[in-house]
Amino acid sequence: MKALEGVRILDMTHVQSGPTCTQLLAWFGADVIKVERPGVGDATRGQLRDIPGVDSLYFTMLNHNKRSVTLNPKTEQGKRIFTRLIEECDVMVENFAPGAIDRMGFPWEKIQQINPRMIYASVKGFGPGPYEDCKVYENVAQCTGGAASTTGFLDGPPLVTGAQIGDSGTGLHLALGIVTALYHREKSGKGQRVECAMQDGVLNLCRVKLRDQQRLAHGPLKEYSQYGQGIPFGDSTPRAGNDSGGGQPGWILKCKGWEHDPNAYVYFITQAAVWGNICDLIGKPEWKEDPGYAKPEARLDKIPQIFDAIEEWTRTLDKFDVMRACNPLNIPCGPILSMKELAEEPSLRDTGTVVEVDHPTRGKYLTVGNPVKLSDSPSEVLRSPLLGEHSDEILKDVVGLSDAEIAAAREEGAV
Ligand code: COA
Repeated sequence: MKALEGVRILDMTHVQSGPTCTQLLAWFGADVIKVERPGVGDATRGQLRDIPGVDSLYFTMLNHNKRSVTLNPKTEQGKRIFTRLIEECDVMVENFAPGAIDRMGFPWEKIQQINPRMIYASVKGFGPGPYEDCKVYENVAQCTGGAASTTGFLDGPPLVTGAQIGDSGTGLHLALGIVTALYHREKSGKGQRVECAMQDGVLNLCRVKLRDQQRLAHGPLKEYSQYGQGIPFGDSTPRAGNDSGGGQPGWILKCKGWEHDPNAYVYFITQAAVWGNICDLIGKPEWKEDPGYAKPEARLDKIPQIFDAIEEWTRTLDKFDVMRACNPLNIPCGPILSMKELAEEPSLRDTGTVVEVDHPTRGKYLTVGNPVKLSDSPSEVLRSPLLGEHSDEILKDVVGLSDAEIAAAREEGAV
């Protein structure tokens, strides 16, 4: 039995943040019923299409293990069917623009009335306050949540990151809120509202940067490279390039072939406990005893110079050879892996983190499976549904409609 078997999710999500959340719940065994607008569906089905007329990878990779029903809750029949779905489901998840579900005629008060055990979870761009009515996409959240101002190089503009911390990151936060509310419902017998704003989710992931903001009041941030470069700090957490963000200095260093391979680099951490090993490895054994280098505090004003010296060594080796040399010495480091390398990495296939899925109109494609592994509830990645693929079975088995009632609802454009 899967961990969330028996939990039924009314999935009103679209694009990325909400679908990430409900896909995760589906992988843990919940029955996720994705409600989509008749004839249209989730907008991402048609976005960034690589094959004409076929559901995009954007859609297929975010909607595994779900069932799809088409339904327009703004029609008369649609409202009746939607009400039945609220009665039959445990959790409703949505990430429409603020107020959209209310405008469909289903504010939280009404949902609670229909089903007091319902857990109603939402992603919005912002929490209550001046921006609560705004629509928000990934990069807007990265910018307003503190990620962009602290990402990039000191002499360059703010940067967004490739990791979808605004969308997928908030979806993960929301999933945790939902299972927490389900756990609470075991004791209280009641549902509740679960909300996660994308700005809040990103800021939570930028927690260490707010830490540094407050440390600035007590002096320069000595572990930042700019300290060693003699560049004064301003009044807010600066962009830190590839600095580690933690107490052990780190940087991205060139490896053999960097001139023609954009990913021939390694992340190298000068772990204090193995400083002696690092010195021996890079041919600087004299640094082990030198008072200017021996202790971590003594090194803080020369971090960029130290990494220049380490790079002299890494440039002579392939990025994987750097890792092979460092690991036995307990020096933490990691090659910069391209998407191509990750897609082809056999160990990720073995663990189910990268999975090949077959789709009836697309054929085979690669996706990222469930990164969270439960020993007694392993995830099986099943293809995303076609638009309305499960409408009839859901309308019959979950909603309880007869064939004639389904035909009438179709006539009205409700499904
Ligand atoms: N039947 C009928 N109408 C439907 C429907 C259905 N099954 N599903 C959605 N709709 C309607 C909604 O009711 C809404 O109509 P309304 O504005 O007239 O009330 C409309 O479709 C569009 O919803 P909206 O959310 O405004 O879509 P959008 O494409 O304009 O905006 C976002 C997209 C992502 C910017 C916006 O949804 C948003 O800000 N969401 C919250 C934050 C978020 O999750 N952002 C990241 C997404 S990855």
